[in-house]
Amino acid sequence: MIRARITGTGSCIPEKVLTNKEIEEFVDTSDDWIVARTGIRERRIAAPEQNTSDLALEASRQALEMAGVAPEELDLIVVGTITGDFPWPATACLVQAALGADRAFAYDVSAACSGFVYSLDAAAAKIATGSVKKALVVGAEILSRAIDWKDRNTCVLFGDGAGAVVLEASEDDSGILSTHLHSDGNYWELLYQPGFGSRIPPSEQGLADRVPYLKMQGNEVFKVAVRSLTDVSKEALEANNLQVDDLSLFIPHQANIRILEATAKRLKLKEEQVYINVDRFGNTSAATIPMALDEVHRAGGLKKGDLLLFAAFGGGFTWGSVLIRW
Ligand code: ACO
Repeated sequence: MIRARITGTGSCIPEKVLTNKEIEEFVDTSDDWIVARTGIRERRIAAPEQNTSDLALEASRQALEMAGVAPEELDLIVVGTITGDFPWPATACLVQAALGADRAFAYDVSAACSGFVYSLDAAAAKIATGSVKKALVVGAEILSRAIDWKDRNTCVLFGDGAGAVVLEASEDDSGILSTHLHSDGNYWELLYQPGFGSRIPPSEQGLADRVPYLKMQGNEVFKVAVRSLTDVSKEALEANNLQVDDLSLFIPHQANIRILEATAKRLKLKEEQVYINVDRFGNTSAATIPMALDEVHRAGGLKKGDLLLFAAFGGGFTWGSVLIRW
């Protein structure tokens, strides 16, 4: 059986740190409120000259270097993003050109905070068919340009960054063991970016009404997120005949410490099984899981045979899990 194995990881963490104290200066909020309700202490903000494709490119180069894979060897590039450089062409195509990955076909996946998990599923499925041998999968976002910096309900939550992995075909027992994906479009209005798209095309009035910025009903999102992350994690364990104790590490989408703690509690995970870095980076949407994976990997936190579970939830609604034997 051909499986997709992660052979390299990388990330791009923008230099500029934005603390809660700094946000206090322009919206009516406080460091205490943000820490207590979200667990976030600071987030990174891309430099004005950096685009999402630049963050994706840096993370990709690191992942390729670690894997010892040249860009020309890639067959596929998938970028999970909702803040690509342009509505189209795909940011993945910009990354492909910048890398010189001439053989690869490239496309973006729009699944909000589940973008990386959805992208992994797509690339792993292609590898399993044998038609793709080496793939690059990226989660990259510049949410700081999609949020309304006058809206305290949302602007404190998000940050910028990118993470990438190289996937290679493997015939041993390591690699992606399963993926489980779900969507429920009935909830689209709870978390979305209204414009500008075909439903609300660009207009000056739309700009004045702050239509281009992310809108969210936070407490509704919270409840569904906890339930969905829990269910899709159980689904992965059951499908593989595993128990929670078998997991070496759970890397959930980093949205909010309270979502992570509530999910971990429902799953009966031990504190040391759950990876958390939302305090330093906030919610970077599709980038949270690959950034966290790269961080733990480079710190020497993974060994062969470890069982890792990724779980994500985001706008759409979309959610999913990926189980990996390292
Ligand atoms: N500073 C101070 N007060 C604030 C702030 C802020 N930044 N934001 C909201 N408030 C106020 C509200 O106005 C409200 O005041 P009111 O009672 O006078 O109306 C009060 O705080 C409570 O608001 P709630 O929305 O009920 O607060 P809650 O405890 O639900 O926390 C939060 C809000 C943090 C957004 C939470 O609902 C949440 O994390 N939801 C999940 C959203 C999320 O993570 N979305 C990301 C995308 S999806 C994903 O990644 C899973």
